[in-house]
Amino acid sequence: MMRSDCLSVILADMDKAFSESGIETSRLDARLLVQSVLEISHADIIANRDMRISDDQAEKLQQYMQRRLAHEPVSKILKRREFYGRDFHVSDKVLDPRPDTETLIDAVLQRVKTDLPLQILDIGTGSGAIIITLLCELPKATAIATDISSSALGVARRNAEMLKVADRVEFVETEWAGAIDGQFDIIVSNPPYIPSIEIDQLDRSVRDFDPVLALDGGKDGLDAYRQIIADISRLARPGSLIVFETGKGQSEDVERLLQQSDSGRDSDSTTIIHDLAGNDRVVLMKCGEN
Ligand SMILES: C[S@@+](CC[C@H](N)C(=O)[O-])C[C@H]1O[C@@H](n2cnc3c(N)ncnc32)[C@H](O)[C@@H]1O
Repeated sequence: MMRSDCLSVILADMDKAFSESGIETSRLDARLLVQSVLEISHADIIANRDMRISDDQAEKLQQYMQRRLAHEPVSKILKRREFYGRDFHVSDKVLDPRPDTETLIDAVLQRVKTDLPLQILDIGTGSGAIIITLLCELPKATAIATDISSSALGVARRNAEMLKVADRVEFVETEWAGAIDGQFDIIVSNPPYIPSIEIDQLDRSVRDFDPVLALDGGKDGLDAYRQIIADISRLARPGSLIVFETGKGQSEDVERLLQQSDSGRDSDSTTIIHDLAGNDRVVLMKCGEN
């Protein structure tokens, strides 16, 4: 890439380089990196395709390009990722929030009244994407969110402040919900669920850039569910909604674990919900009211 090149040539070169290294979203990624370095919008790019860039901008773009060619996701390079229509700060200490997880958000929002002062618990909050989105969508709700990683909690706190819900959420460093007392109307979790043996085979952009703590679900991928569900009757009350994200093909196992739990014995209602790609993605249980 040359400083003398105009924007359209720079974009085309980056697109080609990314595409040749097997990056499927080559064009979009090139555009997002250019937009960020030049601090311009998509519309600005379209209107200024002959524009030249400064030496500093060319150098920064070159660095970003090399990182992307090493399969670092754009979100990790730019330190932000969109989730449910809002911008979240991310770092190498948190899982990038995924579009699949929006299925969990929809599942909760379709089942609750938005004007109630609901109490929510999010176990393994990472960037805080789930709990912060729910608090934005449920303006009277309050929450506790846990993680074992203090760095992840730092990112989540920053996002809560950025999205103006920090006064309604307490972040607690603990193993799952170990240090949490009380009972909640909604308990959500997207725990690590990749079977340990499959971590090495994950796409490089995940394996090398998402923290293993956020991925590794033990031998069969279900360790975290077992541990969380063993504790859940203490945290649920009659009528509570318990909602887990699962990996593809895991929902029936997680549903069974829930049905066999103390809370599950009184429940007549578990549901498996599929994501937009048709994969089982969310397991939901409504605790019995009696
Ligand atoms: C799959 S990530 C989900 C992050 C976020 N909730 C999301 O959906 O984008 C799982 C999270 O669980 C956390 N975690 C892993 N082991 C944990 C444990 N023993 N106790 C609490 N949190 C844990 C990780 O640090 C990570 O942030």
